[in-house]
Amino acid sequence: MSEGKRLAGEKAVDYVEDGMIVGVGTGSTVAFFIEALARVKDRIAGTVSSSEQSTAALRAHGIEVFDLNSTGALSLYVDGADECDGGKNLIKGGGGALTREKIIAEASAKFVCIIDPSKNVPVLGKFPLPVEVIPMAQSLVERRLIELGGKPVLRAGFTTDNGNPILDVHGLQITDPVGLEETINQIPGVVTVGLFARRRADIVIEGVDPPRIW
Ligand code: 5RP
Repeated sequence: MSEGKRLAGEKAVDYVEDGMIVGVGTGSTVAFFIEALARVKDRIAGTVSSSEQSTAALRAHGIEVFDLNSTGALSLYVDGADECDGGKNLIKGGGGALTREKIIAEASAKFVCIIDPSKNVPVLGKFPLPVEVIPMAQSLVERRLIELGGKPVLRAGFTTDNGNPILDVHGLQITDPVGLEETINQIPGVVTVGLFARRRADIVIEGVDPPRIW
């Protein structure tokens, strides 16, 4: 599996162009992308990072990290996923960075998603769907998610970089990703749902040898 992550992460550097500010996601697949990006760091202007974890890794390589508010729109965002369907709709947030990831994806012209083959699924939902919530809304959001057919479980001992808890929603078969994303977005107290369908990936790099790009 980690070989698949490495193959995908390293291939994504092909999309990096001279002078770019690159949006960088979070996770173990992205860690391989960061390693590869470090080898071409003199060609880029810097990065925008989706988590404290990625920021630390980028800075450890001497790569500059900018605030998104100072960069404007980005040309490229590279990030992993927990699941990806044939329409390039994603479940993300296994690492808890879904809110900043969704912001950077929205701000980017091209979203390249890097996955190992185990993440390629026919229907999203076997991986529990992460939902970041405002703390006082937790029980309200749980009730609404149960009405939608899910089984929300509070991620124990975890708060996001934004200081919020995450509900991991089990038991969903997500056949209408855009519709479910919009429905969950409407629940008061939801900060971000880890369904990336309204703004899904543009390009998927699947880590096989040679990498499969679709
Ligand atoms: C973090 C994410 C990650 O992209 C996702 O969890 C995949 O992680 P990994 O590459 O470690 O399997 O969404 O919030």
